[in-house]
Amino acid sequence: MMSLIKLIDLPDLGDDRGGLVAIESNQSVPFEVKRLYYIFNTTDRPRGFHAHIELKQLAICLKGSCRFILDDGKSKEEILLDTPLQGLYIDGVVWREMHDFSEDCVLLVLASEHFSEADYIRDYQDFLKAVQNENRI
Ligand code: TYD
Repeated sequence: MMSLIKLIDLPDLGDDRGGLVAIESNQSVPFEVKRLYYIFNTTDRPRGFHAHIELKQLAICLKGSCRFILDDGKSKEEILLDTPLQGLYIDGVVWREMHDFSEDCVLLVLASEHFSEADYIRDYQDFLKAVQNENRI
């Protein structure tokens, strides 16, 4: 079975002056980036707890660390993001949760679509129904 955790190595252009990563739409990120957002000043409270219908995302922990849990309705996998040199690629209807933010965590997310609340599934039972329907097709 394919892993839910898809890590993308980002172009590392760092040298002895410091780190540098450059990401281009449809190249190191496998979609056209229409939106980005970042999460910072995090607390001990987890976030996420939703799935998306169409949205593709690449989550990059620029500073500090946080733990992602991904769930496709059949299995759950988790990954600690703690490097700006890799992104976690999330596509398909996947339930995601973010936990254990370090105090200094800065999480950058690149997204394939503009914001749309209609693309969210925020209820876990609705999510399970959606993935069951998807598997039937
Ligand atoms: P939400 O996606 O629920 O946050 P998280 O997954 O990190 O827990 O977003 C929180 C609120 O911000 C929600 O009301 C939707 C709004 N929001 C936007 O308006 N635009 C955006 O690009 C994002 C990501 C969220």
